[in-house]
Amino acid sequence: MSTSSSSAAERNFKREFLKIFFIVFVVLLIGLSIFFFVNHNENNKYIIKTLELNGSVDEGDALFKINCVGCHGITARGLVGPELHSITKRLNDKEIIKQVTGGLTPPMPSFEIDPVNMSNLLKYLHSLE
Ligand code: HEC
Repeated sequence: MSTSSSSAAERNFKREFLKIFFIVFVVLLIGLSIFFFVNHNENNKYIIKTLELNGSVDEGDALFKINCVGCHGITARGLVGPELHSITKRLNDKEIIKQVTGGLTPPMPSFEIDPVNMSNLLKYLHSLE
């Protein structure tokens, strides 16, 4: 008798535990979805804003000299990082923006760069073709 009542209590406990576990799981899932949605929206806004601008090659050149030559070489012919002369034929602007701001391919860092400067950099990279 006492064993069956304790196993009933155990079952109850397990059920409660599963319930709480499930609720925590669902809450986390919703939280994560909201986070990714907001993040994705922010990224899209950044990309759209950048692509609307018409950057300056000279400004982009200056930015490149300051931030990128250490790895991509003074004439962008490549060093630690790959050469970038036909990069705009291989990657579209969106992909290049993601490459520069994303930090997805270490050792290349992610750059926090505003849309105006990102647009300048893009113009410069297009001028290398
Ligand atoms: C610390 C070194 C480093 C710095 C600084 C750096 N990069 Fe890179 N970059 C790399 C490396 C390494 C790769 C290759 C990553 C890979 O795909 O494995 C790369 C890849 C790239 C690519 C893609 C090339 C391809 O063939 O797919 C682009 C575009 C690029 N870098 C642009 C830039 C720009 C613009 C800057 C300056 C704002 C910059 N990088 C600064 C190291 C660097």
